[in-house]
Amino acid sequence: RKVVFSAIQPTGIPHLGNYLGALSQWKRLQDEAIKDPNIKLYFSVVDLHALTVPGPKEALVASKKQTLAALLAIGLDPEHCALFYQSRIKQIANLYWILGCTSSMGYLSRMTQWKSKLKLDADTSLEDSRAKAALKHGLFSYPILQAADILIHRATHVPVGDDQRQHLEFARECVTNFNSTWKTNCLVAPETVIAPTKRIMSLTNPREKMSKSDPKARSRIHITDAPEEIEKKIKGAVTDALGNITYDPVERPGIANLLDILSAFDKQGRTPAQLAEEFADQQAPDLKAAVTKALIDGLAEIRDRYQFFQENEKALKDAEETGTIRAIRSAGNTMSMVEKAVGIYDFF
Ligand code: TYM
Repeated sequence: RKVVFSAIQPTGIPHLGNYLGALSQWKRLQDEAIKDPNIKLYFSVVDLHALTVPGPKEALVASKKQTLAALLAIGLDPEHCALFYQSRIKQIANLYWILGCTSSMGYLSRMTQWKSKLKLDADTSLEDSRAKAALKHGLFSYPILQAADILIHRATHVPVGDDQRQHLEFARECVTNFNSTWKTNCLVAPETVIAPTKRIMSLTNPREKMSKSDPKARSRIHITDAPEEIEKKIKGAVTDALGNITYDPVERPGIANLLDILSAFDKQGRTPAQLAEEFADQQAPDLKAAVTKALIDGLAEIRDRYQFFQENEKALKDAEETGTIRAIRSAGNTMSMVEKAVGIYDFF
């Protein structure tokens, strides 16, 4: 039995980091599942997680739809995988609470995402305790909700980018805590599946990951960007003045990032190091031209399909409805086991 679960925040159209770090793997796993009926796939748009950064509700409604349309555009097929909005599965919030009752505050306080938030606010010269008081509980307990997303389907495999590694470790910690506290084995520890292109870097600062929250639009490529936009952004990508092409992610992160991207789209499956050999006598502009072409070709179909799904709300609705039904069924099964294990299943 192989149960795959993964999720993305509804921040609109995914960028190249989301695509190469996560979504392209989801598609690859779907190709496997088509051949093997023992593989079940669940992919979620996590709108409850999005509430940790509050914004206008109209914007959330719109970006949820965009994200769902993008998942269909990359080739995920509602026949083969359950696509759904997290908030539709009411059992998730239920499991979140139960997991919270066996989660350690200490462990949660050590999570990188939380610590970086604390530090940011401390830098504004508020006293540490006041900075802490101003932070929201949802951000602190974010990893528990993420664990609930995964554990509710008793997922065995979770394909994600490198930045989610720690959250996945925490999910396994939740399983250990829950199973040992309640003397059960009903929850399943998931394996983290990381793509070869585990970390795509920002085009404007290649020492930071490509991110949706970067205010610089030029720092990322969205998977539906027009050819001219792709060309402009790659042309402007920060590299270095060392000349020639070598693959050295530590010393030459900008060039390495371009080679990673090129490798991910390479039809011959060459590694970044092999591609560096091919470009050894050439310069950054030559590499950039090749990356631009690879991206324009590699994303063309996604862009067309996105257009289609954006104009066909019925296709979106149908996909979401089928996925929700499947996800609720799976979540219901797990919750019965969980409720029995902790003693809240029977009323008398
Ligand atoms: P999110 O929405 O930030 O990102 C979605 C996926 O994209 C990957 N990713 C990257 N991979 C490589 N390079 C990058 N620059 C890059 N940026 C993003 C992420 O690793 C992720 O796989 N907390 C999660 C959402 C979530 C989730 C879950 C994931 C909620 N519940 C349960 C897995 C399982 C998040 O914010 O992802």
